[in-house]
Amino acid sequence: MSQPISGPPPMPVTDWLSAQWDDACALDPRGDARPDGGFDDLIAAERKIEPRDQMPSGYRETLIRQLGQHAHSEVVGMQPEAHWIPRAPTLHRKAVLLAKVQDEAGHGLYLYAAAETLGATREDMLAALLAGRQGYLSFINYPTLTWADTAALAWLTDGAAIVNQVPLCQTSYGPYARAMLRVCREESFHHRQGFDSLWVMMRGTAAQREMAADAVARWWYPALAMFGPPDARSTHSAQSMAWRIKRFSNDELRQRFVDVCVPQAELLGVTLPDPAMRWNAERRHYDFTPPDFGELTQVIRGHGPCNRQRLEHRRQVHEEGRWVREAAAEYARKHAMRNGGQDGT
Ligand SMILES: [Fe+2]
Ligand SMILES: [Fe+2]
Repeated sequence: MSQPISGPPPMPVTDWLSAQWDDACALDPRGDARPDGGFDDLIAAERKIEPRDQMPSGYRETLIRQLGQHAHSEVVGMQPEAHWIPRAPTLHRKAVLLAKVQDEAGHGLYLYAAAETLGATREDMLAALLAGRQGYLSFINYPTLTWADTAALAWLTDGAAIVNQVPLCQTSYGPYARAMLRVCREESFHHRQGFDSLWVMMRGTAAQREMAADAVARWWYPALAMFGPPDARSTHSAQSMAWRIKRFSNDELRQRFVDVCVPQAELLGVTLPDPAMRWNAERRHYDFTPPDFGELTQVIRGHGPCNRQRLEHRRQVHEEGRWVREAAAEYARKHAMRNGGQDGT
């Protein structure tokens, strides 16, 4: 007789996140009837700005900066978890982690491609990253000390990415919104597999439970810091909200993330490392201790525990991949000459 399959229960999510996701999925940015008029009319009518549209230079520059930083975060963000692929405890976990890390590379590609529709070049964006002129999400600069870090990272930082990025599916720039819809579908898998891995560890041996609890405790504040500085200190927020690039403020998203996490942590049986965390019936949100923004600033400025290591590794693989880029460019040139008799440029 076959045994009933027991596994992790469904992950509870808040009504707010479900509603955001329903709105994003209901959206067909390509099917929108567009009003006559310019940029401001399109923004006011909640229509997408497309690459051919006129747009203020500040809007273009803001998007290029945001898309570049987002793409870098996806690509550099592969490192903390890739380290664990050869050390995965089972073939199943290895296959899942491999798929997740490959997804992150794909997210980087969608986002670099979206920035290219605005006139940025991939070479310039990568040069800015490698020279340290353009940043990426600070959580990447913390180490992954044990196997449980892959689970805590996915549950918390991919979970934070979902709260941040599901609203971005409705951002005003069409190629960005469409890229985010695909990214979020994959982030949901990342989030779920992290929850699944933690759930199994929390029901394992005492050593596994301890390892999982330790990893969650170390990743909680880096995940909260992913939402950026508090609204009062966020330099770009007001304009980005007016252009509908950003739909919610940093502090609101951080609160929404906490509200999503607490019931999930209870189900997992893991303690979030914040003694001040409690339900506030008046606000209908959880109270919590915000991250140390002084530390966040230090990490963003390059003084995190792994800043140097992450960037150095990125520089090294960029050099190692040079021959692949050159071969691909040469192949494209010859292909274009064969097909069009052009010079292939
Ligand atoms: Fe991603
Ligand atoms: Fe992810």
